Amino acid sequence: MLTNRPKTKLLVDGGDPEETLRIKSLMGFIDGQTTNPSLIAKNPEIQGRLAAGHRLSEQEEKDAYKKIVQSISPLVGDAGVSIEVFADLNSRAEEMLAQGQEMFTWIPHAYIKYPCTHEGLRAAEMSVQKSIRVNLTLCFSQEQAAAVYAATRGSREPVYVSPFIGRLDDRGEDGMDLVRNIKKMYERGDGHVHVLAASIRTINHLLCSFLLAAELATVPGKALQEWAAAGFPMPDQDFKYKAIDPKGEALKPIPYQELDLDQPWESFDLAHELTTEGIQKFVADYRSTLKRSA
Ligand code: G3P
Repeated sequence: MLTNRPKTKLLVDGGDPEETLRIKSLMGFIDGQTTNPSLIAKNPEIQGRLAAGHRLSEQEEKDAYKKIVQSISPLVGDAGVSIEVFADLNSRAEEMLAQGQEMFTWIPHAYIKYPCTHEGLRAAEMSVQKSIRVNLTLCFSQEQAAAVYAATRGSREPVYVSPFIGRLDDRGEDGMDLVRNIKKMYERGDGHVHVLAASIRTINHLLCSFLLAAELATVPGKALQEWAAAGFPMPDQDFKYKAIDPKGEALKPIPYQELDLDQPWESFDLAHELTTEGIQKFVADYRSTLKRSA
């Protein structure tokens, strides 16, 4: 059991209620959960149906997603469950919003995930006006995070932005710097956007997220189990984050940019190739579960 709870809220990054239950028993609590199309495609029940030769219709996929989220929701705390809309590179904000509005009714504390793209931000802007909680995902740049801030200003509920650490590390850039830079930039803001450290792969990422005072961190079950097995270490005064890749190569620092949060969100450069690739991967994983005609 984790007795010394960090200030950073801890979420399970996964799509299997059984796993969430196991982690909850291990830690004694869990603040929330994030899901996405890739994680839902890996859900054991969906995988079982695919192994038996049954591909899903779009309606069956949606029903399965709803069932998974409804099983997870009672297990977690007030950080809620993040549910991702199905969006490809051509999806319009209105389509995403329509999905988001429906998904938001599935459970009491839903956060609707939209990608950090022009259309995703437009959907988020409309959502917060309707008091729908949002989580802007696939964030890979400080400019995207500035746009999230500007597009959701006035939201009554905290808005989440999810910088993806591990995927930046994968291409030799120090993903933790993105979290550090966003936190620094938001110091001058009104606090309505909370940083949700995501794509966490290691205990090192997790401890550094605590140190940077990320409001939330979403962590795969495997990494939480490793953290538990190590006795839930916390970063002490001597903790120094090692910005290295798994081969021990130094990661390239990401410089801080001076950005004005008062600018209109459309003025920020939203383009990032990892956001595009991330959407393509989600679409491919989602489609892998569907009937071929779908
Ligand atoms: O929370 C984001 C996460 O699901 C992506 O993680 O390991 O696929 O980069 P990863």
